[in-house]
Amino acid sequence: SFERTPLSKLPCAELHLHIEGTLEPELIFELAARNGIDLPYADLDELRARYEFTDLQSFLDLYYANMNVLRTEADFADMTRAYLVRAAAAGVRHVEMMVDPQAHLVRGVPLETCINGVASVLAESREEFGISSGLIAAFLRDRSPEEAGQVLADLLAMDAPIIGIGLDSAEVGNPPENFVPLYERARAAGLKLVAHAGEEGPSHYIEQALDLLLVDRIDHGIRCMDDPALVERLERDQIPLTICPLSNVRLQAVDSLESHPLPLLLEQGLNVSVNSDDPAYFGGYVDDNFAVLRETFDLNPAQLAQLAGNSITGSFASAERKDELL
Ligand code: HPA
Ligand code: ZN
Repeated sequence: SFERTPLSKLPCAELHLHIEGTLEPELIFELAARNGIDLPYADLDELRARYEFTDLQSFLDLYYANMNVLRTEADFADMTRAYLVRAAAAGVRHVEMMVDPQAHLVRGVPLETCINGVASVLAESREEFGISSGLIAAFLRDRSPEEAGQVLADLLAMDAPIIGIGLDSAEVGNPPENFVPLYERARAAGLKLVAHAGEEGPSHYIEQALDLLLVDRIDHGIRCMDDPALVERLERDQIPLTICPLSNVRLQAVDSLESHPLPLLLEQGLNVSVNSDDPAYFGGYVDDNFAVLRETFDLNPAQLAQLAGNSITGSFASAERKDELL
């Protein structure tokens, strides 16, 4: 057959996606107008001029500031729907997305507003867009573990439709070991566990996430390259690493795309997948990430299929859904 999916749009799962990081400049202006919010930018060009980052924190500052336009359930729902439309075009057939409840709670937006706004759209994602989905509540590691514990308790009390918890925001100086009781409680509640580790932080944060938090999967994990024994362990135990190439370039977590470790990790047999992280901020969705990887590393069809397959096997989808997608 000559009909086939373009290689840059292989059916895949997206496992590392912050829904607030899909908030495009146009939607920021639209929601600001709808909610009567004065933006500190005169127009789209002035906002777009801010999308130059030197490190994780310089991005987080803009990411948290822009969220201020998210006020109602409809705002969260519109943002989520816009992502699903774009993700379907990118070839995404399953998504496990993170939401940052604390980033909204500190602005006075109730937990129910953000969770219900996102979850109401995800509930229909398979029917409407052919994308099965799961929601992960991510905790901000630069805020207190006690606050995180209270938010988890509230999520459980409201029976929030989440499949797992994650850990994000400023990594260096906020190690996984600070969140051991939080992860114990989530695990006891039957939730899946993921954590950002080894994005900007040292490789031993990856080990802490595995050994102390007992995570099922590592978000980023690229700094494992500093520890060959850890790389070996990640290969042996087939720990999924959700890699985000354009994010790493834009936040200068790597010197250049050419020096990105993804091809080496793939070559060494690790379960690495390709993800967009915060696509509205980093220059592209999952298909764009695949496209720059193909161009830069001349990946062959077998390597591209392996990356897409890893995203399915590394997901929390049911065995039945995995079979459908593989
Ligand atoms: N790293 C840490 N925190 C984040 C990110 C990220 O890439 N995106 C949104 N919050
Ligand atoms: Zn991330």
